[in-house]
Amino acid sequence: MDKKINKIKEEIKCFSIKTYHDSETFRIKFLGKKKGIITIFLKELKKVSIHKRKIYGKIINELKKEVQKKISIFLSQNEIINEKIQKYDPTIPGKSIEIGSFHPISILKNRMIDIFMKIGFTYVDGREIEDDWHNFTALNIPIDHPSRDMQDTFFLYKDPDILLRTHTSSVQIRYMKKHRPPFRVLSIGKVYRNETISSHSNFMFHQAEGFYIDKKVSFSDLKQVIHYLMTSLFGKAKIRFRPSYFPFTEPSAEVDLYCNSGWVEIMGCGMIDPKVLKNVDIDSETYSGFAFGIGIERLSLIIYNIKDIRMFFDNDVRFLKQFTSEF
Ligand code: DAH
Repeated sequence: MDKKINKIKEEIKCFSIKTYHDSETFRIKFLGKKKGIITIFLKELKKVSIHKRKIYGKIINELKKEVQKKISIFLSQNEIINEKIQKYDPTIPGKSIEIGSFHPISILKNRMIDIFMKIGFTYVDGREIEDDWHNFTALNIPIDHPSRDMQDTFFLYKDPDILLRTHTSSVQIRYMKKHRPPFRVLSIGKVYRNETISSHSNFMFHQAEGFYIDKKVSFSDLKQVIHYLMTSLFGKAKIRFRPSYFPFTEPSAEVDLYCNSGWVEIMGCGMIDPKVLKNVDIDSETYSGFAFGIGIERLSLIIYNIKDIRMFFDNDVRFLKQFTSEF
């Protein structure tokens, strides 16, 4: 009898109840009125001596309780699930997911890439950490050149000088060193300058750099491309070219755009100086090219009619949310 009891105990323990059907099978197997294992055992108990009947009766009654307990635990757990299922209303609309919007700087960047792709420009990313040669010297800005003062920046190391690039023109040098003309290239990214009084943010702004080198590229090609850019951005645009000076272009010009408030200077450009071409081993007798640089923040201010350039960097969601775009 001891053996039998142990076997029943083990079987109760091992029976796994996962469904209502399992729990019914379990109940019938042990407590079924005719063939339940425990029921039969109890019947057999009548045949043994009173003394033994008392001992085994106690044990078997405990096993009976165990069976009932196991069933009720399963049922109560399922009740919780049932309750949950009943409370769940599939008709309630889901929680909405907030969809962000592009930063106005990114929108303009993407627009410009799109505009230049249409006329065969390749987009390249440049590096923000530069050395002196790529940022200054190769662009015909020697060590004692006064224009370096206007482009003071963060130096990460001195001698050799490693710095945060002051303009995207350094991309010209990197690209021209690796590739042979003809090419048309656009690059947009962050540049760093120690500027407190300009309309830029304090030390960083975004710039777009474009350059085109081929045989017989002329100033009129440059004018045409700038005109194309401006009309693509503004629809109708009134622009003028003003003679200017940049160490890496000859001749150089500044482009002004006519706005409500009058002429606004928006970019620098010019024909790439033969000295720059020489620095990257491009034959300036065979090839010529133009280059231009545009401040993205300033252009965005005009396009979106934003009054304060600092809004670009405040990360105020109320401001940023207003910009939706197909990009
Ligand atoms: N690198 C100049 C600046 O940051 C902008 C510029 C002017 C770029 C003339 C050019 C250019 O490529 O031809 O002020």
